Amino acid sequence: MAADNFFNSTRLRILLSILVCCLLSSLPVLAAYDDSYTVSVYQPRMTKTEFSNVTREGALALMNRHILNYEVRAKEAARRKSQILVFPEYGLYADIKDFTRDSIENFLEIIPDPKVNITWTPCDLENTTDDITIQRKISCMAKKNKLYIVANVGEREPCVFNYNSSCPMDGRYQYNTNVVYDPKGTLVSRYRKKHLFHEPYFNTPRVTDHQVFNTPFGKFASLICFDIYFQYEIEELKDEGVLNILFPNMWFNIPPLFLSVPLHASIAWASNINLISANLIMDEPQGVTAYRTGGSGFYSGMSGEFSYSHVPGLLTANMTNIKYHTHSRFEKVPKRKTPVRGNQTVHNPIFADILFYTIELTDYSGNVSVCYDSTFCCGLEYEFELPINDSVSYWLGVANTFNIDACTVFLGNQTLGMIPVDKDFQRAKFKSIRLFASDFDTPFVFPQVIVTNRETYEVLDPISYYKNGEIYLSHTSPLHSMSLLNRDYHRIPVSISHRTISSVLLVIAMLVLSLLHI
Ligand SMILES: *[C@@H]1O[C@H](CO)[C@@H](O)[C@H](O)[C@H]1NC(C)=O
Ligand SMILES: *[C@@H]1O[C@H](CO)[C@@H](O)[C@H](O)[C@H]1NC(C)=O
Ligand SMILES: *[C@@H]1O[C@H](CO)[C@@H](O)[C@H](O)[C@H]1NC(C)=O
Ligand SMILES: *[C@@H]1O[C@H](CO)[C@@H](O)[C@H](O)[C@H]1NC(C)=O
Ligand SMILES: *[C@@H]1O[C@H](CO)[C@@H](O)[C@H](O)[C@H]1NC(C)=O
Ligand SMILES: *[C@@H]1O[C@H](CO)[C@@H](O)[C@H](O)[C@H]1NC(C)=O
Ligand SMILES: *[C@@H]1O[C@H](CO)[C@@H](O)[C@H](O)[C@H]1NC(C)=O
Ligand SMILES: *[C@@H]1O[C@H](CO)[C@@H](O)[C@H](O)[C@H]1NC(C)=O
Ligand SMILES: *[C@@H]1O[C@H](CO)[C@@H](O)[C@H](O)[C@H]1NC(C)=O
Repeated sequence: MAADNFFNSTRLRILLSILVCCLLSSLPVLAAYDDSYTVSVYQPRMTKTEFSNVTREGALALMNRHILNYEVRAKEAARRKSQILVFPEYGLYADIKDFTRDSIENFLEIIPDPKVNITWTPCDLENTTDDITIQRKISCMAKKNKLYIVANVGEREPCVFNYNSSCPMDGRYQYNTNVVYDPKGTLVSRYRKKHLFHEPYFNTPRVTDHQVFNTPFGKFASLICFDIYFQYEIEELKDEGVLNILFPNMWFNIPPLFLSVPLHASIAWASNINLISANLIMDEPQGVTAYRTGGSGFYSGMSGEFSYSHVPGLLTANMTNIKYHTHSRFEKVPKRKTPVRGNQTVHNPIFADILFYTIELTDYSGNVSVCYDSTFCCGLEYEFELPINDSVSYWLGVANTFNIDACTVFLGNQTLGMIPVDKDFQRAKFKSIRLFASDFDTPFVFPQVIVTNRETYEVLDPISYYKNGEIYLSHTSPLHSMSLLNRDYHRIPVSISHRTISSVLLVIAMLVLSLLHI
């Protein structure tokens, strides 16, 4: 059959168009979104000074100080042509001490489900008697500045207590909630934090509702702080076609494993998503009860472009939309033989309640290892750029905490949240360095490499150093730390979306049917 005849066949053309249609509908993120969008996050700085035992009017007055500040930021974000602005977790009341379940109640509002009340626009409800002062202000802020606003607020939902219900005895659920208002001031998403982190005054929602929302510049959803630590939350969102995740948080910096920026960048990279993080800088004057928080940024997992800041203020970036469904970068890690344990002295420092087993890198070069309770070992092959002397001290460490096995190399004796400034920077460089584990149980490995330039640190794109569960770098900049975190999940995320599989099956089925009819 000649090619012309072949393509002129009407049947075939119908068949082809069915095929094209099916293929199009099977690609989850092929909708007509803009290529990129401009987004701002606001990173405030606060100190705990106020008490929580106030009336509703008192609570509103306390929150209003921050709302006034939000309004200034929203105006500036609009001036920078931002289409979306994200405020951090606890942004309206992080400075308030001693919340209890009762004392936080005055900071909460009843917020309808935008899936039910689909055009709820508090800014237009001038004469409402409902107690929605904060919602009205955020809604008006979005409307006035014509942008999407993501704010973390406290939510109250009345319920009827009886012994068979999950309703608390005080007759209300209290949630840590993200609200999103669109440029008309209409509520488009109400997401309740699922993985609370030492927040006894809030309830865990009974059902997970991601409350995905569409904009002309992409499909979005939000997560809150500790939620991001649970990879299946991200995989579920990806299965719904969400590749842009907005992330209000108040993340506690716990070096060397859990610094906000490197960890969030690593999660975005491993998951192949755009992650937009709004963190809050909390000064703890006593420094006893908590550790410093802070570090916000824009992490493009696909390209490895990360921009971030530890300075308070408004940050703005252009994000490129990821155009198609991207698989996460998890793969099974082969077992490796770690070097034989030498006779180095093993130390047991405790950073932020986390016990480490560490050895010091005392030689110019070497192959060393350290093990955790004989369950798993971390190996390191390294050579310094210059002969070492006492001015620089690096440690190889291993830890097991928060459901991770971790291997880490870090500079000096790190104090919490602080970037060590070494006396002899040239000696903090490696000619080559390879970090690996004897055995990672799961494919969920999150790599981080942080180099430093005295003032601040830089997070490297894992593409440049990570492969098959190991970190390898040559001729490094001065190294702050490098880590491999292996997360042990109780639930295995789906790596290929069910939708993709079923669409492929559908295409095949239609093809077979059409051929039978020819
Ligand atoms: C709130 O509690 C603090 C600390 O317990 C106390 O000093 C303060 O007087 C209380 N304020 C009010 C208005 O009750
Ligand atoms: C939400 O919609 C329901 C049904 O229309 C209505 O009864 C309710 O008052 C609305 N809630 C709010 C807060 O607007
Ligand atoms: C609110 O009430 C005022 C005064 O009663 C009235 O003029 C105005 O039209 C009302 N606004 C709306 C949106 O109903
Ligand atoms: C609670 O459940 C028990 C057993 O399932 C049942 O006997 C009882 O009637 C229920 N009580 C209420 C208030 O629903
Ligand atoms: C974003 O892109 C626009 C248009 O190219 C440019 O004018 C603006 O400076 C960029 N903003 C940032 C924060 O990079
Ligand atoms: C380790 O053993 C070797 C060989 O026995 C010895 O030369 C070296 O000094 C020992 N190192 C330490 C830190 O004890
Ligand atoms: C470390 O092991 C590598 C191979 O795994 C080897 O090439 C190198 O010579 C070893 N280095 C030292 C200092 O033993
Ligand atoms: C380490 O070497 C540097 C320069 O090579 C020198 O200035 C410094 O004094 C040395 N430090 C120690 C503790 O030997
Ligand atoms: C870290 O520094 C503190 C105080 O300077 C010291 O007590 C501690 O032993 C050091 N830890 C390590 C692992 O060097």
